[in-house]
Amino acid sequence: MADETSPWKLRLYTERLCLRVPASQDAEDLYDLFADAEVMQGLGKEPVSAVEDVRAMIEEGMIGGWRTDGLGPFILETAATDRQVVGQAGLMIFDTRDWTPSTWAKAGSHAQPELGWALTRAHWGHGYATEAAAAIRDWAHERPNIDRLVSLISPDNVRSQRVAERLGAIPTETVTPAHSKRTTVVWTHPPIV
Ligand SMILES: CC(C)(COP(=O)(O)OP(=O)(O)OC[C@H]1O[C@@H](n2cnc3c(N)ncnc32)[C@H](O)[C@@H]1OP(=O)(O)O)[C@@H](O)C(=O)NCCC(=O)NCCS
Repeated sequence: MADETSPWKLRLYTERLCLRVPASQDAEDLYDLFADAEVMQGLGKEPVSAVEDVRAMIEEGMIGGWRTDGLGPFILETAATDRQVVGQAGLMIFDTRDWTPSTWAKAGSHAQPELGWALTRAHWGHGYATEAAAAIRDWAHERPNIDRLVSLISPDNVRSQRVAERLGAIPTETVTPAHSKRTTVVWTHPPIV
């Protein structure tokens, strides 16, 4: 269920979660996520060591896609009154020529939206990633410019593969993105019916 007037007011609601666009005030709540070496390995990034680094990531990286492409990561918050931030999930544009992060404008007809997810370790094992990703996938299918969704997952990231499987995605291709040079499996989500 979506209530959308602008990205900044966009909210997606699931049974247990509220999904919204990040703001710099989320830096403290996201610190445990981005300081966790295992989480960051899954995301192909280096862990941060200060809340200020998280603030910079939010302002430069996370919000950027919402400004330029009308998509990006959502903050996942429990919908209960305590409103705990449990992680992030959302869409990024990749250029299929070299599988690097890009934008609609730069990648043109090679632009491919990718659906990704990450939870703070304390919130693993409750189904939040699958629940959030399913809502984002359904929202994405309503966008006129998105006809296919993929998820890029390392072959050793078993937990993430299980999320993809629960969403009905299947591994379709193995690629080596130019920026990471690490073997990555392209999981393709079922087409819109
Ligand atoms: C990938 C990641 C998000 C998966 O987290 P997760 O908690 O295993 O995934 P979900 O939130 O979908 O939870 C599913 C698990 O919760 C369990 N569960 C418990 N209660 C549940 C409920 N009410 N509803 C659904 N599932 C529930 C499921 O059985 C499942 O466990 P299983 O896989 O052992 O069978 C997490 O490991 C992570 O953040 N990793 C680091 C970042 C990363 O690698 N991101 C992906 C980059 S490609």
